[in-house]
Amino acid sequence: MPSSCDGRMGPAGAAAQNAGMDARTAPLLWIPRVASEAAPLDGTLRDRRQRPWRDLRISLTDRCNFRCSYCMPRSRFGPGHRFLPQAQLLNFEEITQVARQALALGVGTLRLTGGEPLLRRDLAGLVRQLAALQTLEGTAPDIALTTNGSLLAGQAAALRDAGLNRLTVSLDALDDAVFQRMNDVGFPVAEVLRGLEAAQRAGFERIKVNMVVRRGVNDGEALPLAGYFRKNYGAGMVLRFIEFMDAGCHNGWKLDEVLPSDVLRERIAGQWPLLPLAATRDGETAQRWRYADGNGEIGFISSVSHAFCGDCTRARLTADGRLFTCLFAPQGHDLRPLLRGLQGSESLLRARLAGIWAQRGDAYSEQRERLRRLQPERADMHVLGG
Ligand code: GTP
Ligand code: 5AD
Ligand code: SF4
Ligand code: SF4
Repeated sequence: MPSSCDGRMGPAGAAAQNAGMDARTAPLLWIPRVASEAAPLDGTLRDRRQRPWRDLRISLTDRCNFRCSYCMPRSRFGPGHRFLPQAQLLNFEEITQVARQALALGVGTLRLTGGEPLLRRDLAGLVRQLAALQTLEGTAPDIALTTNGSLLAGQAAALRDAGLNRLTVSLDALDDAVFQRMNDVGFPVAEVLRGLEAAQRAGFERIKVNMVVRRGVNDGEALPLAGYFRKNYGAGMVLRFIEFMDAGCHNGWKLDEVLPSDVLRERIAGQWPLLPLAATRDGETAQRWRYADGNGEIGFISSVSHAFCGDCTRARLTADGRLFTCLFAPQGHDLRPLLRGLQGSESLLRARLAGIWAQRGDAYSEQRERLRRLQPERADMHVLGG
């Protein structure tokens, strides 16, 4: 049986999400949402908080070769864990269909994620397929990828050639012992650093490097990482510090382990003075700062201390075809039955996507304290994508 934390919650929780109400008091009958006739089928689409849809994050697999304790703790995701069987994964054609219709509704960025997306066979082939699509403005979509970097050295050039525009690499420590403890599979940090070098050589610019910070676990690595990227890459790579989040329900999240970004920023600024930078666009997750001496930029993603739901333009598609309108949503909208019965007509799919977005009211991070109590079920991040 799937656990209550894999985004396949029972009817009561789903009804609660549907109606924006308490899972424990929701009616037991879940009536699936249907496409709203009123939802516009173009770029004027807005959710219930007037937010447009701009980003589609596509998880390509729920598997990963790391066991980061904040995401896939080994105690829960050990050898006996059952991952999605191949037959349940969307194939490249189905993914492309969803992406095409999302772009028709105003999405501009497609971010490929996982699990670990580089584990998916012929990833470059999918990138090529997605790069051939068009946004509403008639341009190619912005295609980005989030990876743990372990397989990047061998794939960076092929991905770049296929049309991948941007890259984000997770890296939680510079010290090899701390890094191996964080990934919990004994993976050496040198190989991820080699992947980053290869990516830069392949032509990726302003590569984002994400560090999830857990107070008392790896926060001592923040300054060494900042020093490393300042010295070796300057503006070529942007290190971002992510507050440890209560994603899923297996990572033992405690508020004590969240190091607020403001505290960390002061620590870094004590060593290398910082100046604020404006957001590059609406809905940006990171607050940006630059080193006063000109040696590059860093960012802080502070979903716990400074929620950024107000202009959240992101939806997430799981590898088995469920669309989540929030990283913390208890349940996704299963598109697979529709996708598998489409028989060439994608207008139904577009209406379904528009209907889902139009009814979206999510703002979990803004209401964390209350919703943590009311909605204990949250899908895991290796299923949803980062
Ligand atoms: P682009 O704007 O496409 O470059 O992506 P990004 O800057 O949002 O970066 P990225 O995908 O690397 O996201 C970084 C991290 O921010 C993720 O791994 C999550 O930990 C966190 N994050 C991203 N989106 C959300 C979100 O919608 N809500 C919350 N709470 N956290 C998010
Ligand atoms: N808190 C914050 N970020 C997380 N990620 C995964 N789990 C968490 C969490 N609990 C993010 C990391 C990783 C990406 C794939 O997802 O940034 O790099
Ligand atoms: Fe894998 Fe990324 Fe999750 Fe770590 S955070 S276990 S690398 S999906
Ligand atoms: Fe968006 Fe949900 Fe994250 Fe808020 S918590 S920024 S609504 S994904």
